[in-house]
Amino acid sequence: KHHGTNVEGVGGPNDDRLGTGESNNTLTNRQGHPVTDNQNIRTVGNRGPSTLENYDFIEKISHFDRERVPERVVHARGAGAHGYFEAYGKVGDEPISKYTRAKLFQEAGKRTPVFVRFSTVAGAMESPETARDPRGFAVKFYTEDGNWDLVGNNLKIFFIRDAMKFPDMIHAFKPDPVSNLSNPERMFDFLSNTPEATHMVTFLFSPWGIPANYRQMQGSGVNTYKWVNREGEAVLVKYHWEPLKQGIKNLTQKEANEIQATNVSHATQDLYEAIERGDYPEWELCVQIMSDDYHPELDFDPLDDTKLWPTDKFPFLKVGKMVLNKNPENYFNEVEQAAFGTGVLVDGLDFSDDKMLQGRTFSYSDTQRYRVGSNYLQLPINAPKKRTATNQRGGQMSYYVDVPPSGNPHINYEPSTIGGLQEAEQVGKIHQPHYNDKLVREKIDRPNDFGQAGETYRSFEEWEREELISNLVDNLKVCRPEIQNKMFEYFTNADPEYGRRVKEGVAKAMEMMKDASHTSSAAADKAVDKAEKMG
Ligand code: HEM
Repeated sequence: KHHGTNVEGVGGPNDDRLGTGESNNTLTNRQGHPVTDNQNIRTVGNRGPSTLENYDFIEKISHFDRERVPERVVHARGAGAHGYFEAYGKVGDEPISKYTRAKLFQEAGKRTPVFVRFSTVAGAMESPETARDPRGFAVKFYTEDGNWDLVGNNLKIFFIRDAMKFPDMIHAFKPDPVSNLSNPERMFDFLSNTPEATHMVTFLFSPWGIPANYRQMQGSGVNTYKWVNREGEAVLVKYHWEPLKQGIKNLTQKEANEIQATNVSHATQDLYEAIERGDYPEWELCVQIMSDDYHPELDFDPLDDTKLWPTDKFPFLKVGKMVLNKNPENYFNEVEQAAFGTGVLVDGLDFSDDKMLQGRTFSYSDTQRYRVGSNYLQLPINAPKKRTATNQRGGQMSYYVDVPPSGNPHINYEPSTIGGLQEAEQVGKIHQPHYNDKLVREKIDRPNDFGQAGETYRSFEEWEREELISNLVDNLKVCRPEIQNKMFEYFTNADPEYGRRVKEGVAKAMEMMKDASHTSSAAADKAVDKAEKMG
């Protein structure tokens, strides 16, 4: 059977002429009618008006008119690949069952198919992949218990810690709604009112803000999740992807500009070509584990996604590796229609009370019902590779009903005594966290907005610090003084040297801009004089 057709063995391999003048390669329309003329619309005479009953033409053009779905509201620009995850059966040196009962991790060597989509965040569908921007790193594991999506980024922390702020943040990072022009002042206007972003800004404007491509970068779940064992006991967990043989590589702004001058798709190209030539990228999945409590000994909240968990106290523990070894067969069907979400967990994995994670979890499937359609989970890229049996029916583009062969297709409700689907048995104890507090809208207690930003600044090598200062200066020099001053204050709070260098850099750059504008206005005056003289 040829992929994507319903023409089962028509004519056989050696007999490709059918009685109808049709062969296996004959173009048809979607009704299966052979297309005999794909060049000319039907007209009255060969230069006369066209007619409306020209079904082949109208079908062709109206399908074309609908070829795009809305681009993702964030992470619109992406590339994807298939592969597998192989479990080590342990977490570090301990049996993994001590912490989680998730089946995909239990047995050493066990493979689970995956699909990964990498992306940039702020740019539109065909924007340059050299942008200074976090990179999305979303992994769909097609496990035996159904799908698990680990929707992460390359950097390990985030700009904000409360989901309420996300739409404003993205508006500030995207182009001006009037002119449709990007402008760093919009971004820094928001950031200068968002002290908790200082740590992320420190990473983003350093060389870590432009990974060289999608293969040579790390990944992280960023938000805090839970692992649950058979006893229903939970720990907090953070996920990290570490590149194996391909290593890590970042770009300076200058290197990125040089690539961007000739290629706006270098990361898609790099991934696609590496997989085509058999050079399969690999990452090791590591976790950090922490008991699920307030941790008064820490100067930050473990559920705050603007913070790194110090690796001396919470070491990276290896749990498995991922290999990407197959390119998509069709970009739109797989990469564009892929739908990842933080709500998509399997037994043994759970949510933490991280406020960003909880806000995200509503957002993903909500946007996907709009972007792809209410039956987006029936598409092969999104459907689990195990059986599904639901009472969901209808909706746009409903393609099948998931009634098992033994089931009763009339009974699309539960409970029922006359047939239909039944609830699964609970295996393992349910994790039941206990809450006793007021319902409030408040900030967390230990914001510590600048401490880790300073530590990260000091951990950089000198060339990375120089690059960071230079990139910040380039962006801040076009911002108004109120914004600049607020940012100097934040960087100084992080590390006095950091603040001083940015401030001095901006002062110098503005001085140079002033000189340049004097020179250019003097040159312009001269040119006008000359033109006037020449009459
Ligand atoms: C994509 C919302 C924070 C990683 C998206 C999409 C939405 C969204 C609506 C588009 C999904 C689609 O059209 O299929 C949010 C909200 C956030 C948030 C409301 C905060 C409250 C984050 C964070 C990360 C992240 C912290 C990193 C861990 C991603 C990735 C994608 C994405 C990787 C692209 C998935 C793909 O390749 O299809 N997000 N996001 N997001 N988000 Fe978030």
